[in-house]
Amino acid sequence: MGQTERKLKFDSLAVHAGEKHDYGSVTTPIAQTSTFIFRDMAEAVAYGTGKVQHYEYGRYGNPTRETAQIKLAAIEGTEGCMLFDSGMRAVTCTIMGLVSMGQHVVLTDDVYKKTLQFAQNDLPRFGITATVVPMGNYEAMEKAIKPETRLLISESPTNPYLNIADMGRMAEIGRRHGLITIIDSTFGTPYNQRPIEYGIDLVIHSVTKYLGGHNDILGGALLGRKELLDKVTTYHKTTGGILDPHSCYLLIRGVKSLGVRMERHNASGLAVAQFLEKHPKVKRVYYPGLASHVHHELAARQMKGFGAVVTFKVDSDLHGTMRFLDSCKLCLLGPSLGGSESLIYHPALISYYAETPERRLELGITDDLVRLSCGLEDTEDIIADLDHALEVAF
Ligand SMILES: Cc1ncc(COP(=O)(O)O)c(C=O)c1O
Repeated sequence: MGQTERKLKFDSLAVHAGEKHDYGSVTTPIAQTSTFIFRDMAEAVAYGTGKVQHYEYGRYGNPTRETAQIKLAAIEGTEGCMLFDSGMRAVTCTIMGLVSMGQHVVLTDDVYKKTLQFAQNDLPRFGITATVVPMGNYEAMEKAIKPETRLLISESPTNPYLNIADMGRMAEIGRRHGLITIIDSTFGTPYNQRPIEYGIDLVIHSVTKYLGGHNDILGGALLGRKELLDKVTTYHKTTGGILDPHSCYLLIRGVKSLGVRMERHNASGLAVAQFLEKHPKVKRVYYPGLASHVHHELAARQMKGFGAVVTFKVDSDLHGTMRFLDSCKLCLLGPSLGGSESLIYHPALISYYAETPERRLELGITDDLVRLSCGLEDTEDIIADLDHALEVAF
């Protein structure tokens, strides 16, 4: 079979899919424009009546964004992709585009905190209700379905405990009840898992994380069948939330190296998790690649690698945990994940600072809990940084 007939593999798609080489440029130029002009009225009318393809206005389309969308769809294995100006915009626009007043959604309890807040606090203001079910309880998921339910929403792996959704099981429940199933695959990445292959209808990413990959953009993506994306498109075009051309360029650049970066992220994540699991000052490690993780078997079945994020509990109180975090030097103190810099953070006092200590405990966000996203530094250097910080902190 000739090279042109052979289907390209992941890394080749990540590099080449969607690239147009306009002006002979090897990279996709940044079309830094808000609007597009027509040659004459005949061309404008031909565009308006659908006889020719043309760009019109930045909220509706942009060539740099289009390249990024084609590239993401190619690596996720979906018909289409829509890009948004943040992961949360992808989540909220998708729900608002697919659900109407009087309808209902079901979501699992450890989805991203803001997704949960949107479902519980904002959707009811529009006459849409949400039922939250425990992650991993598929009987509860099915029981929560009502005649007016439209969406089943889950995430895999989840934050911060890296729980894994059984995507095949969720898709099967959704199919049986005629629902649209959605997985937020931000922690999973298209390199490590493909929810569509398990029958999930729509995939969401915060491209702020691994896909951008360099801690320098905010963005979101929705991927799936065109017929479903079209339903969200109208709402998106009306309400905005467009990923700007420069961020699209940085996303394109990030995605080209996704496979190579994920190999390092996966290797460092596993090595760091194994190191921490043996460390006498660490009480517990949560990493789906470890046999000790509650969903290890499921993760091993569904995922090619287990990612950069390692969550753990140190054997100390709040002050010892804070001293540990302050003693890390290579691992920088801050939220987010999936970028080139290792980021370490304290969920209780960073993401959940507004909650009472009692509520934090209810959510499992304890004072000794730490989340680390292993960056692209040498694995040995990340381990040495953690080892030193554990030694001096308590
Ligand atoms: C799983 C998940 N989904 C969605 C989001 C929201 O993405 P963004 O911060 O790009 O709005 C995040 C952010 O941390 C996330 O972790």
